[in-house]
Amino acid sequence: MDALKRKVIEDGVVIDESILKVDGFLNHQIDAGLMYEIGEVFHSQFGDQGVTKVLTIEASGIAPAIMVAHRFNVPCLFAKKAKPNTLNEGHYQTDVHSFTKNNTNRVIVSTEFLSDQDKVLIIDDFLANGEAALGLHRLAQQAGAETVGIGILVEKSFQPGRARLEEASLNVSSLCQVASLKGNKVTLLGDDND
Ligand code: G4P
Repeated sequence: MDALKRKVIEDGVVIDESILKVDGFLNHQIDAGLMYEIGEVFHSQFGDQGVTKVLTIEASGIAPAIMVAHRFNVPCLFAKKAKPNTLNEGHYQTDVHSFTKNNTNRVIVSTEFLSDQDKVLIIDDFLANGEAALGLHRLAQQAGAETVGIGILVEKSFQPGRARLEEASLNVSSLCQVASLKGNKVTLLGDDND
């Protein structure tokens, strides 16, 4: 997706060889027009899959996911990283370990909002090691729902996330694939960064 690739190249800040900061349009300030376009692109890719729910994880997945859900005209459900006091009914839960942040979050969704009738499209901002996406897929499995695909905005292709998701037979679509962050520079896969 050219608009996202341009943003990553122009506004992305390389923190080190493994971390890209995208606070200007995704992780802090959000480019709403870009999120809208992302909804269009994922709809063109997954629009014939019978998606009933868009599933993401708080916090940064929510902005793109809500625009995707709007385009599909289905609810956007986000997994919470803490069990709220108001959640009294049953819930699905799984542990998601972040290698990037070196922490583990127990993530939950209410049984009220996910069932075996659902066809789930998982959306997230980054794909690094695949832990978040696999965790969301496990939540869908607990509900008996089908994961029809995984839509990622920025894939760090030098990390093992994609391979792990494909090993689990998941259909992954990434709108921007980062081949390397070496030399304080973002290099996109296929070198198509101009
Ligand atoms: P994984 O889910 O693919 O395994 O990724 P990992 O655990 O390594 O990353 C955990 C968190 O760090 C995720 O955010 C992910 O979006 C974010 N992240 C990973 N790599 C990068 C990066 O290069 N740049 C930025 N800006 N973020 C990255 P999270 O824990 O879900 O928190 P939140 O930021 O969504 O609140």
